[in-house]
Amino acid sequence: MDQDKINELIRVSQEAKEKAYCPYSKFRVGCALITEDGSVFTGCNVENVSYGLSICAERTAIVKAISEGHHNIKALAISSDMKNQFITPCGMCRQFIFEFGKHISIYQTKPDMSYEMETSSQLLWKGFGPSDLASERISQNGS
Ligand code: THU
Repeated sequence: MDQDKINELIRVSQEAKEKAYCPYSKFRVGCALITEDGSVFTGCNVENVSYGLSICAERTAIVKAISEGHHNIKALAISSDMKNQFITPCGMCRQFIFEFGKHISIYQTKPDMSYEMETSSQLLWKGFGPSDLASERISQNGS
């Protein structure tokens, strides 16, 4: 992706952060993803009083894209309010992203638009993915 497209994706993720519903953590996160055909989907974190039900910004954006029929995710930008740290996806989100590709670019940003990019396989080293289910298996005895 060229620099202008990366900056635009980061800017859109910062806009998405404004919508964060995070009354418990007060930690706002925004995400913008772009698909191979150039469609953009955004997401924010959506918390719940039953804390464990909270949904991260990344998963919100991915669920929106998939439910609209867009599976070819090319890149994803994530924003938070952390001044001196790049926001990086949680373990659950790493697995969720990996489901849709091993080579997805993940732009982990700071509010000043600086970023670190790593791919889905770099963030989930030796991840378990859909291709593993297609690999040859031994026969099942008993059950
Ligand atoms: N959160 C995200 O939405 N994405 C991340 O990459 C890290 C964490 C959310 C979950 C929770 O609502 C809040 O940030 C604090 O953990």
